Amino acid sequence: MASRETAADLDRKFGAVGAGRVVEGNGGLPKVAVTAANATGEMYLLGAEVTSWKPEGSEEVLFLSALSKWAPGSAIRGGVPICFPWFGNNAENPKAPAHGFVRAKAWQLESIQKKGDDVTVSMFTTSDSDTKKLWPADFRLVQRATFGHELLMELEMTNTGASPLRFEAALHTYFRVGDISQVRIRGLDGLHYLDKTEGNREKTQRGELTIAAETDSVYLDTPHTAELIDGALRRRIEVSKENSLATVVWNPWTAKAKAMSDLGDDEWKRMACIETCNVGKHAVDLPPGQKHAMKSRIQVIRD
Ligand code: BG6
Repeated sequence: MASRETAADLDRKFGAVGAGRVVEGNGGLPKVAVTAANATGEMYLLGAEVTSWKPEGSEEVLFLSALSKWAPGSAIRGGVPICFPWFGNNAENPKAPAHGFVRAKAWQLESIQKKGDDVTVSMFTTSDSDTKKLWPADFRLVQRATFGHELLMELEMTNTGASPLRFEAALHTYFRVGDISQVRIRGLDGLHYLDKTEGNREKTQRGELTIAAETDSVYLDTPHTAELIDGALRRRIEVSKENSLATVVWNPWTAKAKAMSDLGDDEWKRMACIETCNVGKHAVDLPPGQKHAMKSRIQVIRD
């Protein structure tokens, strides 16, 4: 069940001066506005979605669409939506929502904690009669985001049922870039990937990746760090990870962007997704009672 508590109720319970306050965000939706010693940030209860992170000395790192819908039942366009328990379309149920069902639902706030200079916001969601209509498993999913010089996101999944389960997950991170034509992505050289724009054709990455057309690629066997080099904003963004063996790179380019009601026609020029994930052959098998924590750590390096 979605929490019926207002932003003010939640702030009384969890708000902490100098760490994070719960306030009404876009569409009146509750969000945690984080003020850490070296960064500010925002995280909505809708989808447990981090929508902003500004480390000291840097402009906003995450992209957020000006046309995003702000309503329970719709995913936010931009920030870091969480895809779970499947990625993309559900092969067995074409009517099921793309990228699973947790990105468009209200999660519950668990804590806002100051840890040294950093602030950690923790939100969770669990299986219920609604989720079981789409996926039979019992689970508890926690998204813990630590805002500081780095942005650390830990997606912790627990199998709370009596049967083994298998799930896919992605931290679908939208980076704000100055100009997509001046973006290069390093760290994928030599890796195999599935090109979703060509029916999942398997290809091999050669050298740095530049984006000059619709790009929707699932890189496999990639525990590696990726680096986004942004020539226009003169910064590099490093994405390192733990317990993630796939990386998705996505940009819709012109035609797809035009067809999306929650993305401005030109906004594709100012975004690039590098997604820390476990999808396809890297879906996670989780025995009863076990936990799995996928982590994504983001750093900005100024040139
Ligand atoms: C990417 C997928 O992760 O998300 C793409 O690889 C998809 O295929 C994109 O188009 C956006 O998905 P959605 O459901 O948020 O429009």
